[in-house]
Amino acid sequence: MTSAELRQSFLDFFASKEHTVVPSAPLMPSSPNLLFTNAGMNQFVPYFLGEQKAPYHRACDTQKCIRAGGKHNDLEDVGFDTYHHTFFEMLGNWSFGDYFKREAIEWAWELLTYVWGLPKERLYATVYRPDDGDPAEFDQEAYDIWKEVFEADGMDPKKHIRTGGKKDNFWMMGDTGPCGPCSEIHIDLTPKGDTGGELVNADSPYCIEIWNLVFMQFNAEPDGSFKSLSATHVDTGMGFERVAGIFATTDGFKDFTKPPSNYDSDLFGDLFHHISNASGRTYTATVPANRDDLSAQEMTDVIFRVLGDHIRTLSFSIADGILPGNEGRNYVLRRILRRAVMFGKRINLPKGFFANLVQPLVTKMSPFFPELEEQQEVILKVIRQEEQAFERTLDRGLQLFDKFTLDGTGITGEQAFILYDTYGFPLDLTQIIARERGLDVDCAGFESQMEQQRQRARAAQKKDIISVFEDGGKVHSTQFVGYNCSEVCGVETHLVGTFDGENESYLIFAQSPFYAEMGGQVGDTGVAEIGGQRIEILDTITDQAGHVLHKAAKSDSYNQLIGQPATLTVDLERRRQIQRNHSATHLLDWALREQLGAHIRQAGSLVSPGHLRFDFSHFEALSPEKLQAIEDMINARIIANDTVNWYEIPLEDKPEDVVSVFGEKYGAIVRVVDIGGYSKELCGGTHVRATGELGLFKITSESAISAGTRRIEAVSGSSAVELASQNFSRLHSISRKLSCRPDELEERLQTLLDQRTELEKKLRNMEQKQAAAQGGDLLSQAVDKDGIKWIAASVKVANPNDMRGLAVDMLKKLGEGVVVLGGDFGGKVTVLATCSPEAIKQGHKAGDIVRDLTAALGGKGGGKPDFAMGGGKDADKLDEALKALLK
Ligand code: ALA
Repeated sequence: MTSAELRQSFLDFFASKEHTVVPSAPLMPSSPNLLFTNAGMNQFVPYFLGEQKAPYHRACDTQKCIRAGGKHNDLEDVGFDTYHHTFFEMLGNWSFGDYFKREAIEWAWELLTYVWGLPKERLYATVYRPDDGDPAEFDQEAYDIWKEVFEADGMDPKKHIRTGGKKDNFWMMGDTGPCGPCSEIHIDLTPKGDTGGELVNADSPYCIEIWNLVFMQFNAEPDGSFKSLSATHVDTGMGFERVAGIFATTDGFKDFTKPPSNYDSDLFGDLFHHISNASGRTYTATVPANRDDLSAQEMTDVIFRVLGDHIRTLSFSIADGILPGNEGRNYVLRRILRRAVMFGKRINLPKGFFANLVQPLVTKMSPFFPELEEQQEVILKVIRQEEQAFERTLDRGLQLFDKFTLDGTGITGEQAFILYDTYGFPLDLTQIIARERGLDVDCAGFESQMEQQRQRARAAQKKDIISVFEDGGKVHSTQFVGYNCSEVCGVETHLVGTFDGENESYLIFAQSPFYAEMGGQVGDTGVAEIGGQRIEILDTITDQAGHVLHKAAKSDSYNQLIGQPATLTVDLERRRQIQRNHSATHLLDWALREQLGAHIRQAGSLVSPGHLRFDFSHFEALSPEKLQAIEDMINARIIANDTVNWYEIPLEDKPEDVVSVFGEKYGAIVRVVDIGGYSKELCGGTHVRATGELGLFKITSESAISAGTRRIEAVSGSSAVELASQNFSRLHSISRKLSCRPDELEERLQTLLDQRTELEKKLRNMEQKQAAAQGGDLLSQAVDKDGIKWIAASVKVANPNDMRGLAVDMLKKLGEGVVVLGGDFGGKVTVLATCSPEAIKQGHKAGDIVRDLTAALGGKGGGKPDFAMGGGKDADKLDEALKALLK
């Protein structure tokens, strides 16, 4: 069987057991707190939690997974052994409140042994047996079913059933939530297959887990207890690359003499073939015994595996809209790409080799994952650009590395940090290069530098307030009542606390319509009237405890007002303008996705009354046509006056199409802002009620802020109208000046530009003629000094460069001699000297002449004996100084 046939056979088998075959979820997780989709069950979590009803009782699929970064991180091991990957497929079958342990176990056995023909004697099942302190009971039910299964095949259950504690045999989704015992199936891959199960869970490549059957039967409660679920579920995960690898290594589970390897299957074969052609090396499947001391062939084989794995991770991620970048999951991808490039260089693969692996991968995988072919162009472009950018950095970084280690010492923490921070060298790459040269890296020192940087970043983010308002728990978090504009004026409440900053004071009320700066939206301003006193609110921020802090001029008398009734009024005009820009930001996010693709992710945002700024992941500049199309799309929605709705839902119920920001910590209840049903985002900010309120949307700039991250600035509402009318009046005033209509401007301007080019050409000709004429005159005035012809004069030419050309030309005509010229260029004097070989022989040096001359002119200069240039300040002394040379 090929790997494709094996995958299909898994799906067909479960389809025959009435499972619905579902597609893989994208690698971009729907849970905002996850880096990548990392298990088959990610997409089914709401069904296990009972928060959504599953549309089917049984399902099966192959799920694209990435485990690199975060809790499950295999990156550092990839390449050095034969069974770790950053990207892999997890084959799974699920029961949602339907079948349970018996069917899960019996079908697993049937597929492995009867359908695929794995040798039964080599298989071992593990069953949960809690150690001291582990939850729940021994999984007697699973044990009994396995016992029956093994006995029915004439095998000894005592030998083939092993037990494990919480670490290996109790699967939890998180600290709380559905969980349960699991039963893993391991295969003995030793040549004889006679280890009797001794290698199970012993970290040996000769005995590996191929399938994990999880029986969801408890809910882990926040108090640490485990309650039985009303419905039980099955969640299984099989390592596809492992099984495909074993199939290939053992020639269809028959011959176990070769060492096992996931990389033996055809999933990697075509890629290896390509790497082989490009590098002239051959893959021989060796595995290094000692990572600190690799033979050349071992290194080659490690590199083949690294490249084979990493190109899959990058390509599949980009196809699912996750691009390499500076933060979070995007940075993980950048690191993986850089790791691949660094390794590839070691076997002299040519520049750009990594992108060349995209094609063979797409050919291999797109029959099952058509997104690869659909996104092929984007994948190629992104990898190519990243690779090129890294090549440039790499050269500079390697030079610095050499400098750091010139004296044979290792790399200090600070140096490793510079390499990381300025040149993008992940620590493990620095370690690899250092190790190769027999040098150490101070990893602890690096970590402490990283921590210092994190602290600096935190300090830089801190604004006026650095601590939480402390009130001994008396003041509860402020209730925000300002989502509706009609309700943000005249809110009656009372002052509950005050807080003094360094140069300002803060007021805290029981309720507030003032929006505190958050999620990019700036804080409100306005007025508070407390006990007859009118206090300007200059800004609004929040502390970590959820108090809304209203900034006011510093005063120590505010605390006397605590308990007094207060009327709060937000500056409504300003707030409305902020809201327009916030809704405009959502529309922009939507339009960017529509125009550029699903990979667009918000990387930063500012929403102020004057304008909006939106940073997002994208790999190239946007053309004027694209920007126009985006603007047009948004203005069309503004004219359509679509309704804007907002509502709260539990985070778990968040539908797939609601956009969330990665890294943002969301609470259990989230707020969805829905514009016209097409733009849905998790957002706590304030918005307009209908898109028509925006009036007009104009993009004012588009630029890069770092590789892979673009920035758009834009305006809406009154700022947009102001901008449009200003530009209109500018246009009219220019057309008046050019005596034409605005629609004729372009043509008129082109004519003027053409004329200017023509005139410049003419002027240049004249200048050159003039210079030549001057040269001719001066040649006739050459002075003979000790047998050498001298010319020293000031000239009128367009620029110092022309003067240089003139001097060279004159010396050529003069034959042997010295030419010294000077000119006044806008108040600054430039002088130069040039000496012929004969003149130099007689002791004249252009450098010396210029040095003396510039000294006399209050400046500096020098150069070589045959040519020198310099400058001075005293233009009025130029003629005299030149004349003096001829004496
Ligand atoms: N959810 C189980 C795992 O990821 C199958 O191992």
